[in-house]
Order: sequence, then C-alpha cells, then structure tokens
Amino acid sequence: MTTFIPSLELIERLVSPGRPVSAFIYDLDGLDRHARRLVSALPPGIDFFYAVKANSDPAILKTLAPIVAGFEVASVGEIRKVREAVGNGARVILGGPARTVSDFEAVVDHGVERVHIESIHLLYLANAVAALRNTTLPVLLRINLAGPVPGATITMGGQPTQFGIDESEIDDALSVLAACPNLRFEGFHLHTISNNLDATAHSILCLQALRRARAIADRHGLELDVVNLGGGWGVDYANVERLFDVDCLMAALSNALEPASPSIQFECGRIVAAYCAVYVCEVIDVKTNHGEAFALLRGGAHHFRLPSAWRHRHPFSVIRRESWPWAWSRRGHANRRVTVTGELCTPKDVLLNSQPFSSLRIGDLVCFLLAGAYGWDISHHDFLSNAHPERIFLPVQQHRIRFLTGENERINT
Ligand SMILES: Cc1ncc(COP(=O)(O)O)c(C=O)c1O
Repeated sequence: MTTFIPSLELIERLVSPGRPVSAFIYDLDGLDRHARRLVSALPPGIDFFYAVKANSDPAILKTLAPIVAGFEVASVGEIRKVREAVGNGARVILGGPARTVSDFEAVVDHGVERVHIESIHLLYLANAVAALRNTTLPVLLRINLAGPVPGATITMGGQPTQFGIDESEIDDALSVLAACPNLRFEGFHLHTISNNLDATAHSILCLQALRRARAIADRHGLELDVVNLGGGWGVDYANVERLFDVDCLMAALSNALEPASPSIQFECGRIVAAYCAVYVCEVIDVKTNHGEAFALLRGGAHHFRLPSAWRHRHPFSVIRRESWPWAWSRRGHANRRVTVTGELCTPKDVLLNSQPFSSLRIGDLVCFLLAGAYGWDISHHDFLSNAHPERIFLPVQQHRIRFLTGENERINT
C-alpha cells in the first residue's frame, strides 16, 4: 500500500491552467497494484468484494473489476453504476437497510446475485416481489450482534442502531424466512464496525461472528453456505505508514476454516480506495481574526467532507509554489497555528483545525492524502453552487488521462 503523493510538477502538468487549483487526482495504477496485493493475501474460500459506497466513480469500478470478486452495492443507483461501468458479467450483492419494492425489482432486473435482508418486514417484502416476478431470491440475514464489539471509528452493530436484525430476533426471522417460498436462505451478514485499525481485534470479531453464525444455523438445521463479514478494515489517518495487518486477519481465519466451512466474504471499501487519491487545493486567502490565523482554500467540505464529518486531523502536505502574479506583496502565515477552511459560508467548513505551519501563503497548495474513499462520494457537491473540483484519473490506460471538471468532460490521449 503506497500512499499517493503527487509532486508539484505533476499537479501543474495535470490541472487546468489559469485558475486556482482544486482537484482530486486518482492514481489508478496505484489502485490496481494495491487491490491486487490485498486480494492476493486471501486464502482460498474467501471472496473479496468492493463496497462501491467508498468511491463509485466508473474509473475506479473499471480498475477494480478484474481484481475483486464483485461489488457490494447499497442502492439501485449503485447497481446501475456497476452495470454501466463494468457490464452484466460482474457479480453484485446488495446490502443496506430501508429497502423498497423497487429495490427488490431492480435486484431481479439487474441480475443481483444475493440480497442482505435487514428486518422481518423486508423478508416479507422481498418474498412478495420475488413471487410476483416468479423467481427465487438468495438472501443473507444481516445480524446486529449482541455486544460489546471492539472499538472502531464507526459502529453499526453490537449496540442500538438501525442496522440488521437484533441477534435476539434472528430465530423469529428464520421462522418467517422458512415460510417465504420465494426466498432462499444462504447464510448471514455481519458488517459490524468501520475503520477498525486493529487486525487482531478484527479477527476476534470475525471469528466470533462466524461461531455465532454457525451456532444459529445448526440450531435451525440449516445449511450455511455464505457468511459475509462486511468491511471495516481500517485506514490510519493519524499515521499513514501504519497499515491494517491483513496477513494477521487472514492467518486467524485460515486457522479457523475447515473443509465444511461456509464460503467467507468480505466487502471492503475504505481500505481499497483510500490510498490512491489526493485532494489538492490552492490557498486563495489568509487572514487573522480574533487573534487566530486562517487560510482559505478553493474547495472545502462540499468536495471533501471527510475531515469535518469525522473531526479528525486529516493527513496532508503543503506544496510550496514560488510564482506570484500580482503587483502587491504576497501574504501568508509563518510559524504559527493555522485553521484551514473551505470556501463555504459556514464555520463548519473546516478542513484542518489549528495546525502548526512553518509557512503557508496565498498560492501554496494544501494536498490532502488518503482522499480516495468517502471523499468526493460523501460530500454535498452543490451546496452554494461553487465550481466542482477537477477530477483527474491517472492513468486510465498507459497514455490516457480523463478530466472531469463538473461541467464538461474531456479525454486527453
Ligand atoms: C453494509 C456495509 N458493507 C461494507 C461497508 C464498507 O465498509 P468499509 O469501507 O469500512 O470497508 C459498509 C460501510 O459502511 C457497509 O455499511
């Protein structure tokens, strides 16, 4: 896993000239190599799906299609994006709560392989849609495990949330499922936490989940074909050198797998896409207000909401630029703490809160690393209707770079 950090020369070669820099730059070659390394760590019997929600750009999906087992999607929109980007041959599994009739219809229409069901009502609904379409849907039941579970940045299970079926209601859900002739039980789904940095703790959680899934299936005399252990492999934003220990997780799982074990699936997003991109913005103004120093960027949370959503210190580097086109003297901050904000009219638009800088001047670039996952995709792009950032994909093929400017798209070959 190599963190993509472009040089000033590369950035200046890629971005459109004559306007302040605001761009996501994606290193697809790095993504390809990184994803291959992740997948090659998996023993036989474990399938690695990509969770499209982390980054659903067609270039990302196309790069990953030959590498991953398939795609985990959370909406009809994501089903369509996968089908449009990589065709009908790709394996697609659908998860997520709050499903509707049209979601299940899309599952049938788009050849989705399996659905993760998150409530008893949704069992009835999926069965009704499948019956109307005269088909059978393979399903996993998503369990919200009885807690506690080891720590992570976001927790979806082991505590009260809207996700999954409470472990205490799984027996009831299986009784309902047994009476649904158009659904086929294939196993359980347990995406419980996101951004777990501790692979040992994650293996304990996965093994516990597997044991509980087996026990429930045995109790009901059910064949357990698949256990999907979700995503959640962490990315350490506080220390880009510290990598999630995939080998440790795989060693623990390999030891626990027997010939009769169900097929194991993971559906990871963050660890796949985070490392391959940067979000780079130009400082367009500096000021001091009430004794505190600020630098304002051409960009902000509407492009890259992750730092403000998580209120964490996102890893970054400053790229100094020496040219200064104006007749007046260049302003900047030196040797002090600076809060780096975006261009939105809200004090929430903070990308870096009071960080020490030796120098930060108008015209310099701030380059946010690990920006490939849950960056552009979770941001409210059109709030205030500022121009979108350029989105530059490097290289789609050896000699081909695609530019998306928000308003128009051009292909350079
Ligand atoms: C059901 C489900 N699966 C997979 C993922 C991907 O998780 P991550 O990006 O942490 O690997 C998520 C993310 O929230 C999710 O909700």
